[in-house]
Amino acid sequence: MAKKNAVVIGFGGMGGWHCHFQRSNDVVNLKGVYDIKPERNKAAEEIGIYAYPSFEAVLADPEVDFLVIAVPNDMHKPLAIAAMEAGKHVISEKPVTLSSADLQEMIDASRKYDRRFTVHQNRRWDGEFLVMRDVYHSGDLGRVYSMESRVHGSRGIPGDWRGQKEHGGGMMLDWGVHLIDQIVNIVDDRKLESVWCKCDHITNDEVDDGFKLDMFYEGDLTCHVEVGTSNFINMPRFYMSGNNGSAMIPDWLQPCRIVYCHDWSVKDAKPIQTAAGLTKTMAPRDEKSITEKSIPQPAADVHDFYRNFVKAIDGEEQQIVTHEQMMFVMKIMEAAFESDRLGMPVKIN
Ligand SMILES: NC(=O)c1ccc[n+]([C@@H]2O[C@H](COP(=O)([O-])OP(=O)(O)OC[C@H]3O[C@@H](n4cnc5c(N)ncnc54)[C@H](O)[C@@H]3O)[C@@H](O)[C@H]2O)c1
Repeated sequence: MAKKNAVVIGFGGMGGWHCHFQRSNDVVNLKGVYDIKPERNKAAEEIGIYAYPSFEAVLADPEVDFLVIAVPNDMHKPLAIAAMEAGKHVISEKPVTLSSADLQEMIDASRKYDRRFTVHQNRRWDGEFLVMRDVYHSGDLGRVYSMESRVHGSRGIPGDWRGQKEHGGGMMLDWGVHLIDQIVNIVDDRKLESVWCKCDHITNDEVDDGFKLDMFYEGDLTCHVEVGTSNFINMPRFYMSGNNGSAMIPDWLQPCRIVYCHDWSVKDAKPIQTAAGLTKTMAPRDEKSITEKSIPQPAADVHDFYRNFVKAIDGEEQQIVTHEQMMFVMKIMEAAFESDRLGMPVKIN
């Protein structure tokens, strides 16, 4: 397959990652970068990457096949639409943009100019997501009624544009978009009915510096998504329960622990005795009735994101991250913000 020529717009943290990544990818040739800050262009040139003199110069280069837009969130839409109008395909960093109305304009541009357009949902290649998706569909846990996905940090929200509303800051648009995208790609067999969200403002009044979101699915499944930036002890990265067992990933990169019941007839229980009383209901089970196993996180190659996009450009594959998925995640985030504002659940249509 002939490599496609790409230019990365924005040579900051994530732009740098894309450049490094493209230099080791088998389907992409890094043609250059453009950053609005001259010092960032200079930094690119110092490591041997060509820096275009302007965004217009990138668009005018007929050798450029696609752009990766890795600038602050509020700028994804105008740059993506201008690029598609100039005949370039586009990968936008996440969140693809700030509202479903804006996203619709981007999708319309993709159709009008017949250009491929997607968003970099790279966390679909993370091991903890892949394990949990398999566990959800395996049946080991019985009927799954609850799932919890959390990322916790203790450094507050970063002090850059992520803390500013005008640039699309806040943790919902930062980490929330990944975690919600993962949930909707795990639970692909039930209908999401409503959401209930409470945003945190512990270190930042302007944007959410964390949130707690409940997603209520048909069939009595609740998925809890939580991002925290003032948590000094982390809760499990993933926790899932069904009527026959539970699964947990305690922290990033750790194996998934599964415990399920193989014999419901075993009734013995050694009570837990505390200072003020005893309980048999909460007494732990032992090997007479439970089986325990540990599943390592699978290795996945995130380069497949680019491989798929290049094939989608050539009309050989459907893009993995579709417009419908992008719109669904965006509408869930909008409903979450609305729920936080109203202080009540919001239905998903
Ligand atoms: N997918 C992921 O895992 C992941 C991880 C981190 C960041 N991101 C996303 O990547 C994007 C960039 O985040 P970051 O952490 O790299 O930010 P950053 O602040 O480190 O870098 C952004 C860069 O964009 C440049 N820039 C701003 N406006 C520009 C414009 N109009 N034209 C060209 N350059 C411009 C800035 O000068 C800066 O160098 C965000 O959308 C963010 O959400 C994604």
